[in-house]
Amino acid sequence: MKETLEALLQEALGKIEAAEDGRALQEVRVSYLGKKGPITEVLRGMGKLSAEERPKVGQMANEVRDEIKTKLDEKEQALEDIRVAKQLEEQKLDVTMPGRPIEKGTKHPLQAVVEEVEDIFIGLGFSVAEGPEVETDYYNFEALNLPKDHPARDMQDSFYFTEELLLRTQTSPVQARTMEAHNGVGPVKVICPGRVFRRDNDDATHSHQFMQIEGLYIDHNVRMSDLRGVLDSFVKRFFGENREIRLRPSFFPFTEPSVEVDVTCALCGGKGCRVCKQSGWIEVLGAGMVHPKVLEMSGFDSNEYSGFAFGMGVERLAMLKYGIDDIRHFYTNDKRFLAQFKRV
Ligand code: PHE
Repeated sequence: MKETLEALLQEALGKIEAAEDGRALQEVRVSYLGKKGPITEVLRGMGKLSAEERPKVGQMANEVRDEIKTKLDEKEQALEDIRVAKQLEEQKLDVTMPGRPIEKGTKHPLQAVVEEVEDIFIGLGFSVAEGPEVETDYYNFEALNLPKDHPARDMQDSFYFTEELLLRTQTSPVQARTMEAHNGVGPVKVICPGRVFRRDNDDATHSHQFMQIEGLYIDHNVRMSDLRGVLDSFVKRFFGENREIRLRPSFFPFTEPSVEVDVTCALCGGKGCRVCKQSGWIEVLGAGMVHPKVLEMSGFDSNEYSGFAFGMGVERLAMLKYGIDDIRHFYTNDKRFLAQFKRV
């Protein structure tokens, strides 16, 4: 019996040693330690042994079984270690490899222009105000000296929700709102950027929705020359030092006198070309001295206070500054267009 068990042990250890994977090990485990295995058989046959031999053989059989078990477990662990080591080796991460770049968006050119204009006017002592896009008939028209039957309303036909509520056609209603908030006490010095809406036939230079920046300065003794000075320094900062402005008489119901402001054409430097229609000038904004009636309606004493106002189209500023030939580029969100405004 002893010899048989000793031989079994050596045989099993040899097979464990030779096993190359988990499956081979499992086979060894089943064949030596299983219910039909040789060790179980030895234990079963113990009945035939003498009472003296029985415990010795029993003990030895148990020792052999434990030894095989231990060796099996050790080998199993060793195989697992090898497998993990191999996997780690194969799946090694190269952390020095450059990552995939994250594509960054860009500031929309209209937003960039608004911020640049804001910066320039903040530098001139203005602050930034905003008003609602859904506006009342009162602020959009009446408070700006455009009573209900005024013919100048025709130029700014809009989208009405009710008789009294519409999408604002201009940022000028923010003038009235800001003045009201000041309770007749100056100075008032604001610019107001925002969206405006008009019933319009969309083409390369017109859109039913666009942006404006309104300016308003009310104080004692504000004069036309102040308007000219402020606009001149704005244009020089925004378009370049070599640009000049020109004031032409015009009409707005809420300013008197009213002017259109032109800038020297960037393309020809004022000599005249196709873009400026040979005039050497390009129109950029409307402006004027705030009409006394408008001051009074919003609570300012027109004998004590005077002021100027202006309104410019943001798309137009951007198109002139960057040489953009179609207003629709701003709204179609084509990345090839937008990416050109990336700041490096
Ligand atoms: N609101 C006018 C427009 O949209 C522009 C403007 C503003 C004119 C302020 C004079 C003063 O055409």
